Amino acid sequence: PVKIFSSLKDGSKFIAAEIAATIKSKQAKGENCVLGLATGSSPKTLYAELVRLHKEENLSFKNVITFNLDEYYPLDNDALQSYNRYMKEQLFDHVDIDPANTNVPNGEVSKEEIKKYCADYEAKIEAAGGIDIQILGIGNNGHIGFNEPGSSRFSKTRLIPLENSTRIANSGEFQNISKVPRLAITMGIDTIFKAHKVFLMAWGQIKAPVIQKAVEGNVTDQIPASLLQEHNDVTFVLDETAATDLT
Ligand code: F6R
Repeated sequence: PVKIFSSLKDGSKFIAAEIAATIKSKQAKGENCVLGLATGSSPKTLYAELVRLHKEENLSFKNVITFNLDEYYPLDNDALQSYNRYMKEQLFDHVDIDPANTNVPNGEVSKEEIKKYCADYEAKIEAAGGIDIQILGIGNNGHIGFNEPGSSRFSKTRLIPLENSTRIANSGEFQNISKVPRLAITMGIDTIFKAHKVFLMAWGQIKAPVIQKAVEGNVTDQIPASLLQEHNDVTFVLDETAATDLT
């Protein structure tokens, strides 16, 4: 389904409340809650709200295990643009999560190790019991994680070349376009599909055309987010401007 909110703040609060409810119900049963997390600009308000729930409403992350979607490759984990660093700054450093329970693909793995590293990342998600809730943003080209157009429905965690449009869209964080890595490690579409519940968020007019294609267009690997139409529990969480092209 599609849920449209008057602001990205309200949409972010809705997702945060869903996450908090799942964390708590799992806590009550003595179980871990496994979250799949995204980076970029879209989830910043969601993470701020989760931090607020921790600080002001006693939401604990002691039973939470996280797996992030993606990381640039190669990139030092402490680089300003690194998603490893982003997650610490936006969420992990401000809540009571055990750092050992956080997983962000490692942009420092050697070329020789990367195949095994990606297979191990998949195995670690399965060993944790699978992802309960997966958070996604969407690229202007329809990518989810860094699954660029053409990614297979059955793709797994792997190294992938970034489209130039993605490198340009994300170049703001880097000194210039030539500094944006050409590769990334990303969970696959199949990895995302195995999550029990998926929230894809999109805010702003700039996302309106791709949201129309993802939600109402044909299911095609040319718009990877459209593949989610076949997931059995996906919610597209939009603000009014991102929803303007929906019929
Ligand atoms: C980031 C990710 C990407 C972004 C997408 C949108 O972990 O998986 O798919 O969600 O590129 O980025 P923003 O939110 O910056 O518009």
